[in-house]
Amino acid sequence: MTTYDTLFESRIAAVNTMLEHVLSSQNNPVATVYPDLLEALRYGTLNGGKRIRAVLLIEASVALGLTEEAVLPVACALEMLHAQSLIHDDLPCMDDDDLRRGKPSLHRAFSESTAVLVGDCLIAMAFGLLAKALPVVSSCSPGQILSVISDFSSVASLEGLINGQYADIDAEGKPVNRETLEYVHRYKTGALFRFAMESAAKLSSATEEQVQHFSVLGEKLGLGFQIVDDLLDIESSETVLGKTVGKDVAQQKATYPALYGEAASREKLDLLYTQVCEGLATGDGKLLCGFNTQLLLQLASFMLYRSY
Ligand code: IPE
Ligand code: IPE
Ligand code: MG
Ligand code: MG
Ligand code: MG
Repeated sequence: MTTYDTLFESRIAAVNTMLEHVLSSQNNPVATVYPDLLEALRYGTLNGGKRIRAVLLIEASVALGLTEEAVLPVACALEMLHAQSLIHDDLPCMDDDDLRRGKPSLHRAFSESTAVLVGDCLIAMAFGLLAKALPVVSSCSPGQILSVISDFSSVASLEGLINGQYADIDAEGKPVNRETLEYVHRYKTGALFRFAMESAAKLSSATEEQVQHFSVLGEKLGLGFQIVDDLLDIESSETVLGKTVGKDVAQQKATYPALYGEAASREKLDLLYTQVCEGLATGDGKLLCGFNTQLLLQLASFMLYRSY
């Protein structure tokens, strides 16, 4: 077992248990839900995945004094949105990928129309989970909860994922510069990591300065996470990643190694890691003085130096 799986085993298990419940036949009776649709929803969501966005959100929340239980619905909603993004990302009209998490991608296992519908359904269900479960398990104020739901909408759409995915497709086959590349990565991937960190801070009643600080750290982690993804597409294998490799070069995607090379991309990761470590420092006079950020630091290290 790797460090990440071992260290965060119970967090991952808690996320999987809640997702299993949300997508269970007991919670979605076959009398009303078409069985094949439920099967496809479960296939696209409960099929592994590192759950890293959820774990980041939980660890950031716990570091700031919240309980896992209080933020679990937000962490799971984020994973549902992420699962949706992967299902749609793999569609023939997007990246056209046949393999995801070591299995046929959803449109290959079911059909294209099912993949579109499952993705749409997951977004709507994620909002439902936030609205239904969050007020029950957390002691956050209605204002805090609504602010997080509003942020979730932003990062799922024009201030995040959809805008980024649009930019990613638009940049295919074109010469890209630093600005375009950063834009693509910041929106398509950085936004969900920003949300993980920012919502943790908002729900824990952190100061405005701390919320902003966590937001910036989330963006850095998200950018780094996508740089590693770009590198692994070149350097790793289908067996290790559970997805097709070599696709970015074939599809002429805007990536860090394509623009800067592999060595410079790794240097960028080192820089981001240093900045994140500095940002999570808890010594005297630091913004996070008095908090325990040890696990967050270990998570950051895994994210930026992972091999899968
Ligand atoms: C893959 O994300 C897509 C990116 C934004 C890089 P992950 O590497 O977190 O995928 P899973 O959830 O573990 O499968
Ligand atoms: C991230 O980019 C995808 C999303 C934001 C959904 P990629 O297209 O590189 O992700 P993979 O490599 O297919 O997982
Ligand atoms: Mg893509
Ligand atoms: Mg892809
Ligand atoms: Mg990729």
